[in-house]
Amino acid sequence: MKPWLGPEEVAAAGEAISSGWVAQGPRVAAFEESVTRKVGAQAGVAVSSCTTGLHLVLHALGVGPGDEVITPSLSFIASANAPRYVGATPVFADVDPITMNLTVDTIEPVISDKTRAVILVHQLGMPADIDPIRALCDSRGIALIEDAACAIGSTYRGEPIGSRSPYVVFSFHPRKVITTGEGGMIMTNDGAEPTRLRALRQHAMTVSAFDRHESDPADFESYPEMGFNFRITDIQAAIGIVQVGKLDSIVARRRELAGEYGSRLGDLVGITLPQDPPYGSTNFQSFSVILDARFPMSRDDLMRHLLDRGVSSRRGVMAAHREPAFSDLAHRALPITEKLTDHSVLLPLYHDMTDEDVDRVADAIRKAAHP
Ligand SMILES: Cc1ncc(COP(=O)(O)O)c(C=O)c1O
Repeated sequence: MKPWLGPEEVAAAGEAISSGWVAQGPRVAAFEESVTRKVGAQAGVAVSSCTTGLHLVLHALGVGPGDEVITPSLSFIASANAPRYVGATPVFADVDPITMNLTVDTIEPVISDKTRAVILVHQLGMPADIDPIRALCDSRGIALIEDAACAIGSTYRGEPIGSRSPYVVFSFHPRKVITTGEGGMIMTNDGAEPTRLRALRQHAMTVSAFDRHESDPADFESYPEMGFNFRITDIQAAIGIVQVGKLDSIVARRRELAGEYGSRLGDLVGITLPQDPPYGSTNFQSFSVILDARFPMSRDDLMRHLLDRGVSSRRGVMAAHREPAFSDLAHRALPITEKLTDHSVLLPLYHDMTDEDVDRVADAIRKAAHP
C-alpha cells in the first residue's frame, strides 16, 4: 500500500499552517461535513484515530468493567484493545471463511448476559452482512459498533458504509484508502448523539478552544465529566478534505486493479481471490489471497518467493487471541480465524500501480503455482 498524495494535499496543509490555526478548528468541522456528505451519515466526529474512536464510543455507551464486547480475533489488534481500554472484556468470535467477517452464526454462540456491544469489523474493506447482525443485536439490547477502519468507499445494499449503524468508525491511517497521516472519524446515525462525543474528544469541555477564540464577550468552558484528548488537527483535516474528493477515483482504480489480478490469477488452483459479497462491494483496501492445501507452497514460502523476485507482500490479517497481550483470555475454538491468519497473504495494491506491475506480481505467483 502507498498513499495517493499530491501537490493538492501539500497546498491544503500549507494553507492550514499559514492560517495559524493548526490544532482542531474550522478545517476539522469542514472535514466532518465532507465525510458526512460523502457517506450519507447523519453526523461525523473527527478523532485522532479509529482506535480512539472505538474507545470513545464504548466509553460514551457506558461499557465498562464486568461487560463483554464481542469482536473478531481476526483483526488488527485495535479491535480487541478498545474494549480493554474501558475495562470491559473482549470476547472473540470466529469469522466467515470467505468474507473474513463476523456473522450471526459466529456471534450468537458467544453472546452471554454480560454482552453489551459487538464490534463488527469490515475486514480489509470487505463489507460484513450488517442487517441480520443488527437485528440480532437489537433483539438482545446489544449495541452494534461498526469498525469500518478499512471500509470507507465500500458499500452495503447500495449504500456507502458509514450510513447505517448508530456508530461507524473510520481510520485515515496511511494503510487505508484515504489518509490524513493518522486520524479517524465516528459517523453517527439513527439519532445517535454526536454532541457528547464531540465534547468527550476534547476533555469534555463545554466550549471548544476555537469557539472561545471566536467569542465576544469571552466565554468560559466547564468540564462536566472526564474526557480525553482525542483531537485531530486542522493540518490533518485539510489533507483529509482533499483526500475525500479523491475517494471515488481511488476506489475505482483499486477495483480495476483487483479485476486485473482476477484475470491473471483466477484460473489457479489452491488460491482464492477476494470478491464482492452478494450484498455489497469492497474498496479492496487490501488484496488478501487465501492459500489451501492444493497450492504447492506454504504462505511463508510464497512470501519468500515473491521477495526474491522484488515483490513485497504482507501476511494476512493477524489473530489477536494468539498474541501475548491476550493470552490471559479464555476463548472458544477459532478454527476459521486460525486457518485464515496462517494461510493468507496480502498482495501489492496501490493507486498508481500499473498493469505491468500487476503482471510482474502475477507472473511470480504463477511460477509459484507451477514450480
Ligand atoms: C480493523 C481495524 N480496526 C482498527 C484499526 C486501527 O486504526 P487506527 O490506526 O486509525 O487507530 C485498524 C488499523 O489497521 C484496523 O484495520
